[in-house]
Amino acid sequence: MNDVTITVLPGDGVGPEVTAQAVRVLRATEKRFRHSFTVLRRPVGQEAVEAEGVALSDLTFATCAQSDAVLFGAVGSPPGGAVRDLAARPEHALFRLRKGFGLFANLRPVRPLPSLFGASPLKPEYLKDTDMVFVRELSSGIYYGHLDPVPGKPSEIRRSGAVEEAVDTLLYTAAQIEQVVRAAFELAARRRRKVTSVDKANVLSSSVLWREIVERVAPEHPDVTYEHLLVDACAMRLIRNPADLDVVVTENLFGDILTDEAAMLTGSLGMLPSASLGARRTRGGRFGLYEPVHGTAPDIAGQDRANPVGAILSAALLLRHSLGLHQEADAVEEAVKAVVGQGYRTEDIAESGCTLVGTREMGRAIRDALLEA
Ligand SMILES: NC(=O)c1ccc[n+]([C@@H]2O[C@H](COP(=O)([O-])OP(=O)(O)OC[C@H]3O[C@@H](n4cnc5c(N)ncnc54)[C@H](O)[C@@H]3O)[C@@H](O)[C@H]2O)c1
Repeated sequence: MNDVTITVLPGDGVGPEVTAQAVRVLRATEKRFRHSFTVLRRPVGQEAVEAEGVALSDLTFATCAQSDAVLFGAVGSPPGGAVRDLAARPEHALFRLRKGFGLFANLRPVRPLPSLFGASPLKPEYLKDTDMVFVRELSSGIYYGHLDPVPGKPSEIRRSGAVEEAVDTLLYTAAQIEQVVRAAFELAARRRRKVTSVDKANVLSSSVLWREIVERVAPEHPDVTYEHLLVDACAMRLIRNPADLDVVVTENLFGDILTDEAAMLTGSLGMLPSASLGARRTRGGRFGLYEPVHGTAPDIAGQDRANPVGAILSAALLLRHSLGLHQEADAVEEAVKAVVGQGYRTEDIAESGCTLVGTREMGRAIRDALLEA
């Protein structure tokens, strides 16, 4: 595949260290499978504030808009006080990217590696065969009143005399629900063909509409089975029988909480990738922003101690969802599995008898495994 452009936004803290290893693996994928990717780099977060005065400049936004996909590291404020100007807050960069590109579906795969079962708080017998993907609605829901205040969606604390109250608005349009549910069914059709839709339809109107939309979209995929599950029951199923779940689709708040719970099944934050998909179609799939789940990890930044696997697996998601390169994505995931299986460990997943390596060495080992396969 040629004429593919990937914009890399390394960001702050460990972001540049882990994205460098992800790019290394993308370059190896190019070599092994004979593709040609154009990789552009732009500053984001605190680095961009220092260089360009804002956390995400118009030039960087335009560069991303002309790309097939964005590989993102992490952004975070420097220690010592909040920045007043919103555009100069590193976190604003992510918000602008999500909103500007209409990134409505946040995908988080959860597939604990057998060689790391020991790092999970769950017993291995519960983790066996676990392989699920969360599809979390990302563009609306109760968080948006606060992040993006608009008339009719109040999110505020009200104090008047003896009255002290607060309100948040949970609003979903049918179109917002439909696009994320449809994305979940499309994804399930390429996996084990099962969708679990999570809601709280016994008490929330937005969940009642959510169920109606699922019922409307499901007939488009007669080969995909589906079920409705209340969010509290889902929280239990995740621990009790995670292998039963394939594609889990849910609204923003429930997804935020459940994905953190699910993340614990895999052991370390440093292992987890994510994809945020937009509506724009690319030649191979959808435009998306790919990033490890972790933040800037200021406590270990600049010391070659960060686990690059979350970033490398994010690159695998990029290959799969924005470029449509499924075999290549599988190969990257297999390389990670092989290297971790051989006992290579960054310190967050270290155990006795392992080969303790730094960020760069872990990236090199995964690249070599990919090229030698
Ligand atoms: N998407 C993002 O850019 C994003 C996400 C979360 C947090 N943040 C920002 O990052 C900064 C730090 O936040 P935090 O400390 O709450 O979360 P964090 O994810 O940066 O770190 C939490 C803990 O996990 C460890 N850790 C994180 N990534 C790791 C990796 N790859 N390998 C090994 N260990 C790793 C850290 O050392 C730390 O002990 C804050 O400014 C926060 O706003 C950014």
